[in-house]
Amino acid sequence: MMPIDVGDLSLEGSQSALHERLFHAIRAKIVAQLWPLGGKLPSTRKLANELSISRNTVIAAYEQLVAEGYLESRKGSGFYVTVHLPDHYLHTSSERMPQSAAAPISAFEINKPFAPGVPDLAQFPIDKWQRMLLRHGNRISLMGNQNVQGSLALRQALAEYLASSRSVACNASRIIITSGAQQALYIATSAILGAGDKVLMEQPGYAQMSKVLKLKQVDVESLIVKENVGFDLLQVEESAAKALYVTPSNQYPMGTTLNSEQRLNLIHWANLQQRWIIEDDYDSEFQFAHRPYTSLQGLASEMSSEDRVLYIGSFSKVMFNGLRLGYLVVPESLVATCLQIKDATSGDTATHSQEALADFISEGHLLRHIRKMRKLYHQKYQRMCCAIELHFKGKAKVISQAAGLHVTIKWTVEVDEIRLATEAEKIGIVVRPMRYYEDESNPYRHNRAWHSVVLGFGNTGLEQIEPNIAALARLFERLETDA
Ligand SMILES: Cc1ncc(COP(=O)(O)O)c(C=O)c1O
Repeated sequence: MMPIDVGDLSLEGSQSALHERLFHAIRAKIVAQLWPLGGKLPSTRKLANELSISRNTVIAAYEQLVAEGYLESRKGSGFYVTVHLPDHYLHTSSERMPQSAAAPISAFEINKPFAPGVPDLAQFPIDKWQRMLLRHGNRISLMGNQNVQGSLALRQALAEYLASSRSVACNASRIIITSGAQQALYIATSAILGAGDKVLMEQPGYAQMSKVLKLKQVDVESLIVKENVGFDLLQVEESAAKALYVTPSNQYPMGTTLNSEQRLNLIHWANLQQRWIIEDDYDSEFQFAHRPYTSLQGLASEMSSEDRVLYIGSFSKVMFNGLRLGYLVVPESLVATCLQIKDATSGDTATHSQEALADFISEGHLLRHIRKMRKLYHQKYQRMCCAIELHFKGKAKVISQAAGLHVTIKWTVEVDEIRLATEAEKIGIVVRPMRYYEDESNPYRHNRAWHSVVLGFGNTGLEQIEPNIAALARLFERLETDA
């Protein structure tokens, strides 16, 4: 392959930093396919000379292009345009459309390095999935209206999967298929809480649940989650709240977990005082340090005949976000109410993907994929921790447990978390400041002596972790010096 001639590469016309301008200029050439796939870029020294800029500027731009998958760095040989153009650039027309200030963040932004909540999309066995979709694609019986509760085949497959992997006690008649966990949160809240009712919610907590509670005008009582120890059970026992929303396997975003004893105490509280528990078990498949604890729902049914737990799960992490499938497992007494709510708000769920998923689960593909991904995410988690220790030099530390697809880091030096997130975005890295997870009920919202951000590693390649953490740490250092 002929080496690339940088030709008319121009860094003019922007207020941003030089390395960013260089990054954008090279990326534009690649996206427009003006620089051929596999083409070799000039060495950092040569390009620096040609453009009369510093070599560090070129290195920073090249590193970012590698991190985002546009370039490949070959040891001892140089930098090459990667063979595969990132997916989001196959449709560039939306990029050219003028965006209003209120335009929602694009998929491109969301899926950047360290964006929380996205699994490793490239690892998904897409060929198998496509086979399942094809198998059901021509079934005319699936084309009309369906049962609002969701596909029976999927609910049966799910009941077996949940029983064996999470000890969830249910049968298909108590499962409602939803559009992601998000719709399950909405239905669960609407079924048991009304405007003015009080709910206990972990703080910081899942922002998507805060949105539901706000919309439903439910009063939130903050249940403060402390680093490593979690929340105070005494507060739950003394609260007058009608329900508790928890992420017991991997508290989002502080990354604590409730052990069996704490779980038993919560169930006892709910049974004794006739309260509800909404258990959001969004990523329990990915525990790296120990076997996952039995779900609250499973424990509750072992303990008594009474059932006060609404159990929520999602396929966003174990499959992929765009599938938009999740589920809600409710007590018998709530099934009819929940179905009424679902019927009124969305009607039934897209059918072909439900049938394909039923086969994907019952033929063992889901479990195989989860096992494979658990190993890979564990490696990524370790890579994250090592890179953070190395590049942040002890100034920021990981506080979340070894689980899930994200790590939460905390620091006390003078670097503002929101500023870090804003500046990181400019170098193509997405981090979520802790403030994002604190709602108005949280007394520490404007009164915290530490800073923190959440870094997702699910969709960041193993080899992209270190250069991106290094870039983030350099930014962190710069902001600390500026402060
Ligand atoms: C706490 C929590 N619950 C649920 C979900 C899954 O949501 P959904 O299924 O709507 O994509 C996530 C995803 O990041 C989460 O963090």
